[in-house]
Amino acid sequence: MSTALRNLEMTALGLGFLGLAWAKNKLKGYSTPNGVAKTDEEGQIAYLLDIFAALRRFMPPGFDLRGRDVLELSPGASRGNGVLFLALGARSYHAIDVFDLAGAEDSSFYARLLERFPEGAPADRARALTLASGPGSREFGYAVGRDFDIPRLAEGRTFDLIVSCAAFEHYDDPASAITAMTQVARPGCEAVHIIDLQTHSRWIREHDPNNIYRYPEALYRLFAFPGQPNRQRPDAYIRSFEAEGWSDVRFMPSRTVDPALREASLRGLAVPFAGRVDMAILDGALTGRYPGIVRSAGVSR
Ligand SMILES: C[S@@+](CC[C@H](N)C(=O)[O-])C[C@H]1O[C@@H](n2cnc3c(N)ncnc32)[C@H](O)[C@@H]1O
Repeated sequence: MSTALRNLEMTALGLGFLGLAWAKNKLKGYSTPNGVAKTDEEGQIAYLLDIFAALRRFMPPGFDLRGRDVLELSPGASRGNGVLFLALGARSYHAIDVFDLAGAEDSSFYARLLERFPEGAPADRARALTLASGPGSREFGYAVGRDFDIPRLAEGRTFDLIVSCAAFEHYDDPASAITAMTQVARPGCEAVHIIDLQTHSRWIREHDPNNIYRYPEALYRLFAFPGQPNRQRPDAYIRSFEAEGWSDVRFMPSRTVDPALREASLRGLAVPFAGRVDMAILDGALTGRYPGIVRSAGVSR
């Protein structure tokens, strides 16, 4: 089959997936933040350990968590990352979300997560478990607000490290979120944000990872729902962070389109995505430090 014909087929199929995602959201709301079922505890633990390892990989070399106050934006179904940050000596962990997906999390899960994470000093691990298992505390916080007013939801805290995973691509207005996030960043704060740029619906993601970029904005937004991927590309995130005074802002790609799918994935995209040099990037991490010197935007490879 020619690339043009294949892409026509994928465009038609992708419209079906956009419709399905819209309908699922109408029926169930925002319910499955990652691909792992809530009942699959082993899967949830493996997912969290994987995400936590990725966040650490993108922290500055030698970054010591001891005594740090950590903010996670949009943790989804679990505050498990918080337990791991505390186990490594962080002073506190606070999480902010628009949907209350982790509020009913069973705290016994944290003990089983820690069993699979052999790091951290015994005293820090014990403190992590005590904080996470007890009633809500300032050292292990969680605040939810549909307005995603980060300074209000931070409840007077400021932070040394702000992280997120698979969150920024869901924000309606990423630039406003970055402005708000900056208001709670202490001088010297580090940011690590893993951003998933590709199509989210499962089957089509494997076969046509750039499918969401095939549609003009008006058509794509016909299927809009809260949390629909915003299709923002790395350079726009970099510009927003730099505009707020963050320095050393970089986007480091993790995964790129499989060579077998590359030609098809880069063709047949809508304006403004057609012809962009970064369209082979599927995900990666945005990192930066606050405050700092403004420098020009760029995608490092
Ligand atoms: C794909 S989930 C990722 C959750 C978690 N970090 C993980 O890796 O499983 C996306 C997260 O973004 C949040 N979110 C979705 N739509 C949002 C919006 N419009 N504004 C702010 N946050 C949103 C969700 O509540 C959820 O926590």
